[in-house]
Amino acid sequence: MTVRHFLTLNDCTPDELQQIIHRGIEMKNNLRAIANDPPFKNTVMGMLFEKSSTRTRVSFEAGMAQLGGHAMFLSPNDIQLGRGEPIEDTAIVLSSMLDIIMVRTFGHERLEKLAEFSSVPVINALTDSYHPCQLLADMQTYQEYRGSIKGKKVVWVGDGNNMCQSYMNAAKQFDFQLVIACPEGYEPNKQLLDQLSAHVTVLRSATEAAKDADLVVTDVWASMGQEEEQAKREKAFADYQVNEALLGLTKDDALFMHCLPAHRGEEISENLLEHAKSVVWDEAENRLHAQKALIEFLLTQSN
Ligand code: CP
Ligand code: NVA
Repeated sequence: MTVRHFLTLNDCTPDELQQIIHRGIEMKNNLRAIANDPPFKNTVMGMLFEKSSTRTRVSFEAGMAQLGGHAMFLSPNDIQLGRGEPIEDTAIVLSSMLDIIMVRTFGHERLEKLAEFSSVPVINALTDSYHPCQLLADMQTYQEYRGSIKGKKVVWVGDGNNMCQSYMNAAKQFDFQLVIACPEGYEPNKQLLDQLSAHVTVLRSATEAAKDADLVVTDVWASMGQEEEQAKREKAFADYQVNEALLGLTKDDALFMHCLPAHRGEEISENLLEHAKSVVWDEAENRLHAQKALIEFLLTQSN
């Protein structure tokens, strides 16, 4: 059996990613047709969350219900994984009963281990290194508002974190130029930067980076698991707030995205989510549609 996983954007070809995004748009516009004839009756997804979530949990759970299936929330506090049962054993057992598994965890290698031992598709719902499902929603949102992102200038402001690294993969897979503005010491993985140097540049100045941007994206300064670094990071990122002045440097038709949750007064100014260039609420909703398309893709491609 061929099992297709989605651990990073590189698990799909550029054509497959385009196909998933177009299908996400189609599913969004045809909610009723899918509800009348749900394609995945009796299909069960396991959702393993080792970190908090609002959007990811709700979008996968609602998405599975809309497709005719079920989703089961699994927390390490409630299952034997939290009491030391190995991830390999957990993967074998879960995948013998479930049709598809979604995982949010810390180290990316933990997700890779689970996928290695799983006999059904595994989806990365965020690790310390990547958040590819968010990129499907972001790329769908850009496509809906402005058409193809190919050749556009995308600016990442802030931490070289899991979202930033997924934007780096997206730069190659969707063929855009990514400019990252981040303070020294908070760059993304060096090896990834070297690999993607044709599509990714790092600058220190957010204002220099933002000039003529088509899309500006940011994220929290301290990600889940980095809470104790909050004060240190607030100092390091003080010059990296996305605000009206910064968006003023971008193209007139530029968009602003943030995966959420957002910290107003830190990485964004107080009212930025309501700015004319902001599309964050559509971006959040598109998690639902893009992931339904992803689930359909993985289930139909695994055979
Ligand atoms: N953007 C995102 O993944 O949000 P949650 O942490 O709420 O799932
Ligand atoms: N970088 C953030 C993204 C949250 C969706 C984190 O990992 O906490």
